Amino acid sequence: MAQNSHVSIKNVLFVCLGNICRSPIAEGIFRHITTQRGYGNQFKIGSAGLGSWHIGRPPDIRAQEAVREFGIDISNLRARRVSPSDFESYDLILAMDRANRNGLLRMAPVQFRDKIQLFLSYAPNMSVREVPDPFFGNADNFDYVCQLVDAACRGLLVSLTSQTQLQKTPAANSGVVLSENGYSASTT
Ligand code: 4NP
Repeated sequence: MAQNSHVSIKNVLFVCLGNICRSPIAEGIFRHITTQRGYGNQFKIGSAGLGSWHIGRPPDIRAQEAVREFGIDISNLRARRVSPSDFESYDLILAMDRANRNGLLRMAPVQFRDKIQLFLSYAPNMSVREVPDPFFGNADNFDYVCQLVDAACRGLLVSLTSQTQLQKTPAANSGVVLSENGYSASTT
């Protein structure tokens, strides 16, 4: 994290293994919620995967169908791999499970490691800490992913906005201004 006393949290990256199921769902839902709440212009939201198998492909059709039930279209997203520059350009990097978090920690330059958190730390009322990989599952597994992701996205937005001077009116150069590590999230 930056060394200055205030940190602007504007750029959020969601990370899973393949970037075709969980993280594009999270990207779509968080973008939808921030836009609905009037914060649409104030975040750069992205997603990426640790693996390279699906680079360039759209989200899994089951992921697209599951988020469509929320009125969200993620068909335009394309899978990409986490790149070294992501650790610099994103303020917060949210892993879907512990294996993803460990992979990110291995990749990240040491000065950026505290940007990496478990995404479900923002959904403390859920009984699970990881978003399970639905790739070998069925539509119910994808619906469950959407429920977990939706809860964590809501918690994330509350966390980023309630402790900050973020204003709903879009304004040039405005963002989420936080004290160093001022957003709360457990790391378990
Ligand atoms: P994701 O799901 O990490 O949520 O995108 C997966 C997608 C593909 C594979 C594994 C997980 N795969 O092994 O190809």
